Amino acid sequence: PPGDSKVGEKVFKTKCAQCHTVDKGAGHKQGPNLNGLFGRQSGTTAGYSYSTANKNMAVTWEEKTLYDYLLNPKKYIPGTKMVFPGLKKPQERADLIAYLKQSTAS
Ligand code: HEM
Repeated sequence: PPGDSKVGEKVFKTKCAQCHTVDKGAGHKQGPNLNGLFGRQSGTTAGYSYSTANKNMAVTWEEKTLYDYLLNPKKYIPGTKMVFPGLKKPQERADLIAYLKQSTAS
């Protein structure tokens, strides 16, 4: 389903922003800065110390992979240190991904 980035922004602020930033050069928190996420291989953000599991998970982040990952991160990347239960609602994931695509573009 197409996502609504305005709704997705609220989802990000409520559920992701405590651990992630999106702006270029914003720095890492508990999780890596997500700027430039789309089209990048997982586990390759400079200056962030990933788990071995996330580093070895060779996937390119784009709509489809994020949609599957965010449903259940620990199932998609067994051994990830991202402590997040996942977003079960398809529309919520679509909205969040629409926001991420816009906000993480360098
Ligand atoms: C990793 C997104 C919530 C902590 C990641 C990655 C993505 C992501 C895409 C992989 C980055 C990469 O491979 O370069 C999100 C989104 C969230 C969310 C969209 C909200 C729905 C959280 C929360 C926390 C967190 C709430 C902290 C409690 C982390 C950590 C990693 C990570 C520590 C690195 C995992 C590892 O190295 O195993 N996140 N995240 N994230 N996230 Fe999140």
